[in-house]
Parts: sequence; C-alpha cells; structure tokens
Amino acid sequence: MKISSRKLTISSPVKLNLHLAVKDKRPDGYHSLESVFMALDYGDTLHLEFAAKNSLVIDLEGVKFAVPMEENIIFKAVSLFRSKTGFDQGVRINLKKCVPPAGGLGGGSSNAASILLGLNVLSGAKLNHKKLLEMAVSLGSDVPFFINQIGAAWVSGRGEYVNTVKPPKCFCVLVYPGFSSDTNAAYKLLDQCREGSGGTKEAALTEKECLKALSGKPESWPFKNDFLAVSPDSQKTVYQNIFSKFSELGASFSGLSGTGSTCFGIFTKMPQAEKAVDALKKNWDFVRLALPAKKGAVIVSK
Ligand code: C5P
Repeated sequence: MKISSRKLTISSPVKLNLHLAVKDKRPDGYHSLESVFMALDYGDTLHLEFAAKNSLVIDLEGVKFAVPMEENIIFKAVSLFRSKTGFDQGVRINLKKCVPPAGGLGGGSSNAASILLGLNVLSGAKLNHKKLLEMAVSLGSDVPFFINQIGAAWVSGRGEYVNTVKPPKCFCVLVYPGFSSDTNAAYKLLDQCREGSGGTKEAALTEKECLKALSGKPESWPFKNDFLAVSPDSQKTVYQNIFSKFSELGASFSGLSGTGSTCFGIFTKMPQAEKAVDALKKNWDFVRLALPAKKGAVIVSK
C-alpha cells in the first residue's frame, strides 16, 4: 500500500440537531430518524501519525471516558478501518478534546468520522465515499453526517441518508448543563413513553416543511426534538430554565441537541449572542459561541 504522508491534523466539528424526530423502531433495534443537522465551527482536533508497526496509541490528553478503551468509538473506527483495508501500520492519535462527551453534540461520532477520513489519506488507501459511508453507518447514527464533510443536511433512515442543505445564517450559543445523556437509555425511555401514550409522535414535520422553515427566520422555525418531552423531570426543569434564559437574552429560537444534554440558542445578531454568552457564564460553566460551519471535518495540515 502506498503511504502518502507520515502525519496529519484534522478538525472534528460538532453538530446541532435543529430538529429531531424519532420514527419507528426498526428490526435491527435502531430507530429511524428525521433530523436537520448543522455542523459548527467548534469542536475537537485530532493529530494522526505513524508509529511502530501494529501499534495503536490513543492519547486523550487526560480526558477520562466512561467506557473502556476497546469500546471507545475512536478505537472502534481504527479497528474497522484496519479490518476493511488491511492497513497495519502503527498509529498514534492525539485528541485535543474540547467538546463535552455524551452531550448531544455528536463529539464522539465526529471524532470517528475524522479518524476514517484521516486514515484514508494517511494510509494512502483512498477508499471512495461509498465505502467510507458504509463504515460510518456501522459506527453510529451521527457518523454518516460527519463523513460527508458538509455544513448542514436533512438526515433520515438510521442516519445514512444525508441530503445536503444550505446552513442558515445565524449565531449559536451552546450551554452544556453539567450532566451528560446516555443515548441508549434515552431511546429506551422514549419507547416506554410511547407505549404508554398509544405511540404519539410529537415532532412530525416533512422534509419539505423543514427545508422551507430553514430558509425563513429562526423565530418562526417549527423545529422540535422528541427527546425533550420524554426527558426525566429533573432534566426537563434544567432545560426549560436554559430556554427561558435564552428567550430573555433575545434568542430567536432555542432547542435541545441530540438526546441531550446540550441546549442551544439561535441569535441573528453577533453582539446579542456575545452578550448572551457573558450572561449565561454566570450560571453555567460551559457556554460557547459558534457559527454554522461551511463544511464539516477539514484536514488542516499534512
Ligand atoms: O448511534 P449510537 O451507537 O450512538 O447509538 C447508541 C444506542 O442508541 C444504540 O445502541 C441504540 O440502542 C440507540 N439508537 C437507536 N436509534 C438510532 C440511534 C441510536 O435506537 N437511530
């Protein structure tokens, strides 16, 4: 296999789910989704370089993850790439983690997509998009969006159907409330709530309705997140508190990303968004201002 370069750096942006509707449970145990994804110009950075043959060193710079290394999605992405391509060079990965883990921003999924994209260049394997997409789907529902390296999309299926859309012009403020969300548990809770309420689906909007709304003003966005209604009361109270704050501070729209726990406010003017960040920092440790990204993961150096 031809080796194209010895090391590279790749950005790993986060996403917001401006809208997230969970549809039926599929025979494979996953749920079909309909969602508006938007990448932000904020996220982690990954450095990849060759190391001793067959070795894999993942340097997380002291960040502790809740799962053992073998279950870490970065480890899984490297293993999958190796098994599909036969790439057996050692790799050292350094992750500069800025994004709170399990916060609904797709941080881990974005890391996994960046690993696949980065290894594809570093190894010289040059797999085509279809092959990378197949690997992305098997790693998780959010990974296909990131593998497409785009700004925004209507995402459906288990996450594998990604239709590029134009990102809205806005300023996003993120608030991580200090607790994470267990994706698996959130889907289970959603199923239980639906069984109890005759299968009501709250966030049903067509693709056409979503795309039309996206090109309009954020204050009239009809977007919803199905996980909000079924989140435990203690969390819902925190989310409602953050949404009220966003509203007081002049946000045109606010919502929950993924299964939680990160809340976001959408502003149409930068000074207002900056003031909101200052005000929110008085109550919350993690508050960030971010802009919609023109494209997703970018290889920033070789
Ligand atoms: O996609 P990811 O691997 O992060 O999902 C974690 C868990 O959440 C899955 O194992 C599944 O139980 C649930 N899930 C689901 N439907 C999806 C995405 C996730 O049921 N579309």
